[in-house]
Amino acid sequence: MPNKPFIADHPLIQHKVTLLRDKRTSSKQFRELIQEITELMVYEATRDLPICDVEVETPLTKTVGRKIAGRKLAFVPILRAGLGMVDGAVELVPSARVGHIGLYRDEKTLKPVEYYCKLPGDIHEREVIVLDPMLATGGSAVDAIGQIKKRGPKNIKFMCIIAAPEGLKALQEAHPDVQIYCASLDECLNEHGYIVPGLGDAGDRIFGTK
Ligand code: PRP
Ligand code: URA
Repeated sequence: MPNKPFIADHPLIQHKVTLLRDKRTSSKQFRELIQEITELMVYEATRDLPICDVEVETPLTKTVGRKIAGRKLAFVPILRAGLGMVDGAVELVPSARVGHIGLYRDEKTLKPVEYYCKLPGDIHEREVIVLDPMLATGGSAVDAIGQIKKRGPKNIKFMCIIAAPEGLKALQEAHPDVQIYCASLDECLNEHGYIVPGLGDAGDRIFGTK
């Protein structure tokens, strides 16, 4: 059985996703919103990090506080659009390593084409959170996670902002062990493989290309 996906219901996330969808939102605002949503999502996705007791001395006395125990994180954005999520993620977890996987969808077949992969050397000691704002057919996420699994990380989570039901199903079937986090589960894909209602082409909106 695949893990039940986490679909954000927080009002702040829903509000920001609505602004993100708006076609009048500028690239600058779009990048800021992606960063803010990612921060809120990473907060949820790190809820299960183990913690341990540590002694700390306040100006008044010694006490026992809590710190994140040992487990190390790596964020792996799927290029290009996943890059828009990196700043938000490392803002919350500055000690995390960042790997990169370059994939683009062939416009006709909608199949992912790989062009780059650089992952942290110690990825086998890390928990990985894969970042990509869009989960459409699921081809890119399935492929990227397959590449990361070959390097034997401890655990993999996948974080997106908008998911289509088709992509969610494909990812759950291919990688049932991967916990999925998304800010919105949309209605469907159109005949060009775009998510509806979606937000258009995330990479183009982040980088101002067309
Ligand atoms: C987008 C998006 C995902 C992919 C999702 O990237 O960022 O990586 O499409 O589609 P899928 O689930 O059907 O594979 P795109 O191929 O447009 O490349 P880009 O980020 O370089 O613009
Ligand atoms: N990639 C995007 O950027 N947007 C979509 O709707 C589908 C794939």
